[in-house]
Amino acid sequence: MAASRGEFSSRIGFIMAAAGSAVGLGNIWGFPTQTASNGGAAFVLVYLVLAFCLAYPAFMAELLIGRYGQANAVTSLQKMSRTLFHKRFAFLVGFGGVICAALILSFYGILAGWMVSYAIEPIAKVIGSDTTATWVISQSLARNVLFTAIFMFLTVFVIRRGVEDGIEKWSKRLMPLLITLLIILIGYVFTLDGATEGLNAYLNPDISRVLEPDLLISALGQAFFSLSLGTSVMVIYGSYISKKENLVTLGAQVTLIDVSIAFLAGLLIIPAMYVAQAQGVAIFAEDGSLISGSGLVFTVLPSLFETMGGMGLFVAFAFFILMSVAALTSSISMLEGPVSFVVERHNVERKKATTFIGILIFIMSTAIISNIGVMLDFVATLATEYGQPIIAMLCCVFVGWIWHRSEILKELQEGNETVENSLFWKIWPWYTKFICPTAILIVFIHSL
Ligand code: PFF
Repeated sequence: MAASRGEFSSRIGFIMAAAGSAVGLGNIWGFPTQTASNGGAAFVLVYLVLAFCLAYPAFMAELLIGRYGQANAVTSLQKMSRTLFHKRFAFLVGFGGVICAALILSFYGILAGWMVSYAIEPIAKVIGSDTTATWVISQSLARNVLFTAIFMFLTVFVIRRGVEDGIEKWSKRLMPLLITLLIILIGYVFTLDGATEGLNAYLNPDISRVLEPDLLISALGQAFFSLSLGTSVMVIYGSYISKKENLVTLGAQVTLIDVSIAFLAGLLIIPAMYVAQAQGVAIFAEDGSLISGSGLVFTVLPSLFETMGGMGLFVAFAFFILMSVAALTSSISMLEGPVSFVVERHNVERKKATTFIGILIFIMSTAIISNIGVMLDFVATLATEYGQPIIAMLCCVFVGWIWHRSEILKELQEGNETVENSLFWKIWPWYTKFICPTAILIVFIHSL
């Protein structure tokens, strides 16, 4: 018997779930760190352009594949296939996405576990348990395993409940919480000395830097990671959207939310760095590079929070809870990719499939933790710099070169009858066919 499929019960449910997938550590940790290490406002400008001009069209391709196929990534791509070769190719691309999502979750769960542990540290301090406070932010094996396990448990808990009762319900609760916390923290940072200098670095671009190859490549990579492309995730979320919905607008709304939250996160972190600097914390080396590199949120921010006295403990707790919430709405989407594949292709019951895959991914995480210095970087590079760009590119190739134009139009017309006369229809098919694959190929070749 075929497993029954879920569907998002409302438009806002889909928006929250897809934005929940897109908004995560990539926005709140990755984007500000990249901005700070790549020329501040120049990076922000390039990122905004690339997110709308390249990532959004590729995102639309993935959503459309899923909504057309009404199934997991492999089955959806196979439904578009006309020859045996296409079908095999579809399997490789879809399954590649599923594997990529699992690989990302295996290291993302560790990073998210750190966020949870940093949220617990201030609580331990408040209750006077300094030993616990030190232990939860130590890099010990036991601490990493424990917090990854806690985070994976939460992810499995949500996904076992399915689409409407799990993903949609929790994304609808967690996303508004995230946005509210972010805005409160921004308001707070701007009451402190040094924040305006940070604002200037964030918003005043040095135009001469915008065409630097490294900056372009980082911004494009960041935009693709942020929209969760090339992982089968947006295909499966697309398959849960009702045929009555206008995909073009939904996709644009999610992109807008994703980009806005990255922008807001920058508005918090970049000024916070300057506030910390004004308070004597070393942030930039003499050559202008970041002293803490990608560890920004774990070094600069806690020392900033410490200078805030008793209030700092509360701010630290709020910030790391915010990071954990953002990571959870992303990790549930990563787990849904492999789970939907196993449930639909192998007729396994959802709860069983979720627990089994959750345990498998947790075992992968522990393997990474056992040699974290080497493995974390290796798996992250493999999945995000190679896997994601290649699979996102192949999805665009599928839509642009294998799918019939008339069928694409028919699918787009569901919920959007006038799409044929829109600017979107005039530009997007051409974009997906030529520009997206070429641009992604450039990123890929660079990362080689
Ligand atoms: N978009 C998420 C972030 O910015 O943190 C990361 C992510 C989620 C990547 C889901 C891949 C994925 F399938």
